[in-house]
Amino acid sequence: MTAEELKKKYLDFFKRKGHIVIPSAPLIPEHDPSVLFTTAGMHPLVPYLLGQEHPAGKRLVNVQKSFRTDDIDDVGDPWHNTFFEMLGNWSLGDYWKKEAIEWSFEFLIKELRLDQNRIYVTVFGGDHKVPGVEADEETILIWKKLGIPENKIYRLGKKDNWWGPVGQTGPCGPDTEMFYDTGVPEHGDLCRPGETCGKYAEIWNDVFMEFNKTADGKYEPLKQKNVDTGMGVERTTAVLQGKDNVYATELFGPIMKEIKKLAKNWEVRRARIIADHLRAATFLIADGVTPSNVERGYVLRRLIRRAIRFARLVGIEKDFTTDVASVVIDTYQQDWPEVGRNKEKIFAELHQEETKFKKTLTEGIKRFEKLGAAISGREAFDLYQSYGFPLELTIELAKEKGKKVDIEGFNKEFEKHQEISRSGAEQRFAGGLIDHSDKTIRGHTATHLLHQALREVLGDYVHQTGSNITPERIRFDFSHPERLTPEQIKKVEDIVNQKIKEDLVVKREMMSLDEAKKSGAIGLFEGKYADKVSVYSIGSFSKEICGGSHVERTSQIGKFKIIKEEALGAGQRRIRAVLEQFLKRLFT
Ligand code: SER
Repeated sequence: MTAEELKKKYLDFFKRKGHIVIPSAPLIPEHDPSVLFTTAGMHPLVPYLLGQEHPAGKRLVNVQKSFRTDDIDDVGDPWHNTFFEMLGNWSLGDYWKKEAIEWSFEFLIKELRLDQNRIYVTVFGGDHKVPGVEADEETILIWKKLGIPENKIYRLGKKDNWWGPVGQTGPCGPDTEMFYDTGVPEHGDLCRPGETCGKYAEIWNDVFMEFNKTADGKYEPLKQKNVDTGMGVERTTAVLQGKDNVYATELFGPIMKEIKKLAKNWEVRRARIIADHLRAATFLIADGVTPSNVERGYVLRRLIRRAIRFARLVGIEKDFTTDVASVVIDTYQQDWPEVGRNKEKIFAELHQEETKFKKTLTEGIKRFEKLGAAISGREAFDLYQSYGFPLELTIELAKEKGKKVDIEGFNKEFEKHQEISRSGAEQRFAGGLIDHSDKTIRGHTATHLLHQALREVLGDYVHQTGSNITPERIRFDFSHPERLTPEQIKKVEDIVNQKIKEDLVVKREMMSLDEAKKSGAIGLFEGKYADKVSVYSIGSFSKEICGGSHVERTSQIGKFKIIKEEALGAGQRRIRAVLEQFLKRLFT
């Protein structure tokens, strides 16, 4: 069975079980400005898992492009990727454990025709780190009834069988994971489902999302009990084809072949890293990320540079990133047209980054070799600043040569030179943060007011090009060709505060895209849920298509203050703002 057939079967199966197919969200989250990347199918659904009504109903299914950096150190082994396609089905307060597990099992056995004897499962067995939540006996019983014997059911703790929240707060719950015995001989001390010994491939995860983790670490019941499942397309395809790694499937085969053609010193782990990273880079660029030194751009830069570095190690001397990307595009453009559409851009960005990095790589390595066995934070930072070496690259080189790097020292240097904090950097490397705290929600509603205020002051052509909200501050990017005058800034700020004062009601309505357009709602009209969209209006002042969470009345926002207005790039500006409560936190 091909990946293509697997995806089709999955969607069809869950359609028959009453699910509606929703489109994949982009890798850059649209509705959750506090997150860097879409790391799972559930990400764009957070407001609905928290209880908001979804326009498509209570049963959803899709194929979601996902990107995570958490597993980057495992990439190169048989099963881990940074970018991957995830099949998922959801119950938003509808069916629960019995149906979810029975359907998972039915799909694996009847549709995919996997061998039942090779299926193993893990289940949440209770953990003191999740106070008040007991072992998931209900799930264990369901598996037993389906014929999975006791010795193939592993009761594990939070590390293995608890999913989410991605950030500090948000929806989460115990899960049950399904593994397939690939037949690879057992090796290593601990070879069981959930350990990376290569024998058991994790193919599916059913999460029972019934809790909300609060800022003070409590697990409170959510308004509704949700099911959130995720099946890795790459892994399941490999298993279905009797392969013992994802790189042996048609999804990676041609990419690996291209690398083999170019490499003088073939080494499979290194080749896999190159393949994974350039595939991910291709998808990220297609979704609008460009290499830079901050946030998403930095993650992309790190992927490309790491691929180039490993290419050196397998003896690829010439420029090669666009050759590999070209094969990635051929492999994927039918399913993901954005990859084909952005071919030129992908090539241009890769080529530019490759040229830039190669120049400094040779010199940087020379410099690195002159350093002693203990590399100080200062030296590592110098490699970063002068030669563009991401810290991870320095660590890797050091590992190879038996040297040590003062990571903390590097971070201290980094902090001194960057406005972003170290914890911010950690969050970014962890793939982002979901934060649905009150402060973020208030900030989110404030951006709607800001958006409309900008349009009133500057003109109707102004539209949002991005935003990022944390409990500390609001960042809002928009199209506008020139610097705002102090008078314009003041006017915008005054309008927002006026609207806050008026205590306008924030109302949410669902309507078809057409109706939304006709009603004058602003926002992105492309790539939204097929039938209906949700539209937020704030009094009669603002009307915007949006899937996020908002306050109920504008008075809840607090006072709004613009801190800075700056250029972002051609035709784009950025506003940084804070809310009164944030101000207090910053300055008292
Ligand atoms: N969110 C869960 C996961 O990523 C299930 O989709 O595994």
